[in-house]
Amino acid sequence: MIARAAPFAVRVPGDKSISHRALICAALASGRSRIRNILPSADVHSTAGVLRALGVEIPALGDDLRVDGPGLGALSAPGTALDCGNSGTTARLMTGVLSGHAFESRLVGDASLSRRPMARVARPLEAMGARFAFDHGEHLPMAITGGRLHSVDWTSTTASAQVKSAILLAGLVARVPVSVTEPIRSRDHTERMLGALGVEIRSRGGEASLQPASELPPFQIDVPADPSSAAFMAAVAAGGGIRGGAPLSLTDVALNPTRLGFFRALREMGAEVHWEVEREECGEPVGTITVAPRELRAVRISGADVPAMIDELPLLACLATRADGETEIRGASELRVKESDRIAAVVANLRAVGADAEELPDGLRVRGPTLSLGGSVRAHDDHRLAMAFGVLGALSGRAIVIDDPQCVSVSYPGFWSDLARVTA
Ligand code: S3P
Repeated sequence: MIARAAPFAVRVPGDKSISHRALICAALASGRSRIRNILPSADVHSTAGVLRALGVEIPALGDDLRVDGPGLGALSAPGTALDCGNSGTTARLMTGVLSGHAFESRLVGDASLSRRPMARVARPLEAMGARFAFDHGEHLPMAITGGRLHSVDWTSTTASAQVKSAILLAGLVARVPVSVTEPIRSRDHTERMLGALGVEIRSRGGEASLQPASELPPFQIDVPADPSSAAFMAAVAAGGGIRGGAPLSLTDVALNPTRLGFFRALREMGAEVHWEVEREECGEPVGTITVAPRELRAVRISGADVPAMIDELPLLACLATRADGETEIRGASELRVKESDRIAAVVANLRAVGADAEELPDGLRVRGPTLSLGGSVRAHDDHRLAMAFGVLGALSGRAIVIDDPQCVSVSYPGFWSDLARVTA
């Protein structure tokens, strides 16, 4: 066992998924909600901006935020296009919310978001009665005409919390029962938050269903730290990169089991990883994760493991260069439609720094260990790629130069200073 209080402790910023949902639920509630420790990152600013354009007064994102919600279904028609920036969560969750409102709106995004698939969210909402028009293909820009929706019992071919949440939010706003079945359970923050606010919501295996609520009450939330951001620091600790090879404590982290796949994989790779729940926040378990370094071995990740670590797979692939044996990630073709094609980009970058990596249609292979890696990599405007290669650079002791280090602001604005603090 490692000492519960490791010499280094980091509280990474607030969870991105929970921050988006807290803002959206506050904007749908009747009355004043209070959100503490929201993540003030570019993606969350996008959700705040979209909600402001729909008539909700949201102050500048700070540690202690009050939002006056107009009530369910009471957003105002926007006077401009709604800019979702780089944020898939903003675009897809707001598509659900807007489908329940009887006005037309237009969603736009940056170049990366405008390449990402939107049909997956439009199709179920069309089945509920919303109408969609795309400028080209099935990507943003996209116009939505919402209104009176009917109930749906939707089966999704992909495990996607964004699609599931869009349907649940559309049902909530339109006050109709909905149910969504997905092949593998995706992160369940929407279900937990709505459940904590008294909405009748059932979640079993890959199925989530919601019964209509007359209104959403205002609420208070202290947003826990993001396990996806904590994962980068945990990887540094597992690889022995914390000053003096020390263990690391990650405090106040959201310990939702649908988000902990990376930490389970890290344990399987041989690192010492413990977590303990200390409190509950809006239905989310919250606590401390402690990680200590050990010799790492290769790991196999298959489709069933993927949703609980979807955002951490680029990082896992980077860490696999330091593990003994062949790591294989399969059943992860969703990675190709994230902020970048994360399979192609990770493999190209790993090769560029001298690692032994191979691209597969639905994943990748990495053979390790190759401890001394260096060179230049491309972030493709993708925050998680920049941070994964930042961690690899910190561990390998040689320079890994990232073309666009500032893109980390999408989810973890203070990443580079936190990394320097624990490794210097
Ligand atoms: C998210 C769901 C996931 C994840 C994304 C955030 C959410 O996307 O990759 O970073 O907050 O619901 P998918 O639903 O597309 O898998």
